Amino acid sequence: MPTVADLPEPPGLPVLGHGPALARGGTMHRTLYRWRKQFGSTYRVRLGPASAVVTSATDVIDMVLRERPGTFRRAGYLSDVIDELGGHGLFNAEGDDWRRLRRSAVPGLSVASLRDAFATMVRSTGRLRDQWKTGRPDERVEVLDDLMRYTLEVIGSLTLGHDLDAVRRPQEDGLHQRLPLIASTVVRRMYSPLPYWRLFRLPADRRTDSALAEAGELIAERYADARQRMSASEAPTCYLDSLVKDSLDGGEPLMERDAVGAVVNMLVAGEDNTAAQVAWAMYHLASYPEVQAKVRAKTADVLGDQPFPADAASLARLSYVEAVAKETTRVSPPSPYIIMEAAEDTAVPHGTESLRVDAGTVLILLLDDGTEPGQFRPERHLPGAAPVPASRQFGGGPRLCPGRNLALIESMLLIAMVCHNFTIELDTSRGPVGERVTLSVFPTNLGVRLRPHRS
Ligand code: HEM
Repeated sequence: MPTVADLPEPPGLPVLGHGPALARGGTMHRTLYRWRKQFGSTYRVRLGPASAVVTSATDVIDMVLRERPGTFRRAGYLSDVIDELGGHGLFNAEGDDWRRLRRSAVPGLSVASLRDAFATMVRSTGRLRDQWKTGRPDERVEVLDDLMRYTLEVIGSLTLGHDLDAVRRPQEDGLHQRLPLIASTVVRRMYSPLPYWRLFRLPADRRTDSALAEAGELIAERYADARQRMSASEAPTCYLDSLVKDSLDGGEPLMERDAVGAVVNMLVAGEDNTAAQVAWAMYHLASYPEVQAKVRAKTADVLGDQPFPADAASLARLSYVEAVAKETTRVSPPSPYIIMEAAEDTAVPHGTESLRVDAGTVLILLLDDGTEPGQFRPERHLPGAAPVPASRQFGGGPRLCPGRNLALIESMLLIAMVCHNFTIELDTSRGPVGERVTLSVFPTNLGVRLRPHRS
């Protein structure tokens, strides 16, 4: 049976392997795609002394995603970095711990619960529209920053039952400015050859510490409140409530530090990918004015004088807006790979054979559909169009992203709101738009002008 050592390997450095090439430029996914073209759908890279399998083979990806939490798990080195930061939660938990956290998270993120939480999203959408309305039409808007504050505000409400009021405070210092640092610190530490942070703190580590301390204080306050309310048999209204209720109902004890970790984990998972997704949607809408015009025609039909969809029923009628969100995820996946690890000795399909994979081997699963994305054409997602390859952008199997419905609603609300109220133009006065990957792929240097066309 072939082993990982038999897989083709791009040229790398003697001791450091492919780590430096992957870290270069902050666009690891592009390097992995480039190597895929040269070395085929399954190849290996060396990360220090260990080899990792990189694969786009859908049979391998589906098997690895499905066989959790038993045979495969999230890569231990990623999980350890998150734990050391005090952010242990659903994304990196395993076994029974994961089952418990998942059980508390899923109900609040179901379509039915999100229908109830719609008012929260409408409130944040209104705030963002008002903020953009106050700007000058020729002013450059750093949309990614605004969208990060939006997604944080929404996930903060759903997770903590607390209004972080982040959208209306773009300049003000606060948690909303510092929380995004956590994801970049996770990634910096993940790829660091040495755990330098145990010996000294870089300025970015110190800023992350202060973000975590501030988040910890807020969550501890909310945790005390949730304990009181859940002990009085109130119904849970947010993720933290559900965690507390589960523990009071006889589940595992939930200490304050467990609650802080679980909430921080959810805030980061809920903030980054969705903000990246909508920022890419804005980029594509600005680049394809005919798509933007079509969205505008559809929102005019469905919304009329309403500034944006105010209820789930109006949103459900905007199928073209949904197609724009899906096309954005296809062309610009915010989460282009998942890093997994074999929890035991096993084998995965390899053409007509099987590939032996030893316990501890890292597998990097490339989630794009492996085809050139080509033109941005939302029509391919409308009923009656030729089928598109199944999307794995939200993962799969038992750990499929629990936030996918929320992400779709947020994206649709924002795409509808922006096109219904503004004409979006790309501002390239500071150079072209680039990209950078931390835990998500973000556009860099994305500035737009928002020209209001409704009062
Ligand atoms: C466009 C937006 C999003 C994308 C592309 C995305 C993508 C993903 C992917 C690829 C995974 C890994 C799935 C797996 O291991 O099979 C994941 C997991 C996860 N996502 Fe999302 N996500 C998005 C939005 C959200 C939102 C809004 C939330 C917040 C509720 C969220 C919370 C999570 C959590 C907690 C996990 C870990 C689940 C588990 O391991 O059981 N995500 N997401």
